[in-house]
Amino acid sequence: MEKCEIYPVQNEDLDEIYTLCNVCLGKNYISKNELINFPTQPFVALKAVYQNQLAGIAVGQKITWKDFKKILHEHLVETEINLNINDNKIVGWRKHLCVYPHMRNKGIGKMLSMRLHQSFIQENITPVFSFIWDYPGNIMANMLSGMGYKTLGKIAYFWKHESLQKNYECPICGCPCICNAKLMMYEKK
Ligand SMILES: CC(C)(COP(=O)(O)OP(=O)(O)OC[C@H]1O[C@@H](n2cnc3c(N)ncnc32)[C@H](O)[C@@H]1OP(=O)(O)O)[C@@H](O)C(=O)NCCC(=O)NCCS
Repeated sequence: MEKCEIYPVQNEDLDEIYTLCNVCLGKNYISKNELINFPTQPFVALKAVYQNQLAGIAVGQKITWKDFKKILHEHLVETEINLNINDNKIVGWRKHLCVYPHMRNKGIGKMLSMRLHQSFIQENITPVFSFIWDYPGNIMANMLSGMGYKTLGKIAYFWKHESLQKNYECPICGCPCICNAKLMMYEKK
């Protein structure tokens, strides 16, 4: 692969990132209001630059276990997740990863993914969680299991409510989004 550089996302990148997210994740999936927070705490937002162009982003968030549990409870209606974590502990949440279609399969997604993972680990932030978009051909679950992530469960129609609320078009199934998610977790041994 030609050289791909990874940088922290800055304010001046946000217009370009908005276009990237609309193309890769669905129009209006990421609102401008969410986007303006990317360069600030508690977000960890990285961009990949390939041949002098924005190629992709990886975005995570640091969040207390208590707040992340609320998100789990909103979605995991029937699944009990019994993890022995202190409510005030900061955990990692991998939120978005995407690469422009014409720049895929060159190792950029994996590089972004690993850097995001490392930024949590370097700050001793574990476990790290991810809701994987479960569509045919998505390579994310394989990529994360190669990095030591384990699948905790599957969540039906994970984005349905949000897609109706934000009125965004899922690139796979439109609106409402009826895609399922897989919850994956990395825990330091
Ligand atoms: C998922 C995504 C970020 C991957 O980005 P990418 O730059 O193409 O990924 P990479 O080139 O780093 O590939 C990672 C691995 O997947 C493999 N891979 C890539 N494209 C593949 C394909 N079409 N079929 C099979 N394997 C593929 C690569 O060979 C590599 O495997 P390796 O780890 O064994 O070397 C990109 O496809 C994307 O933006 N998709 C739309 C948004 C999305 O689904 N985001 C994830 C939400 S959970």
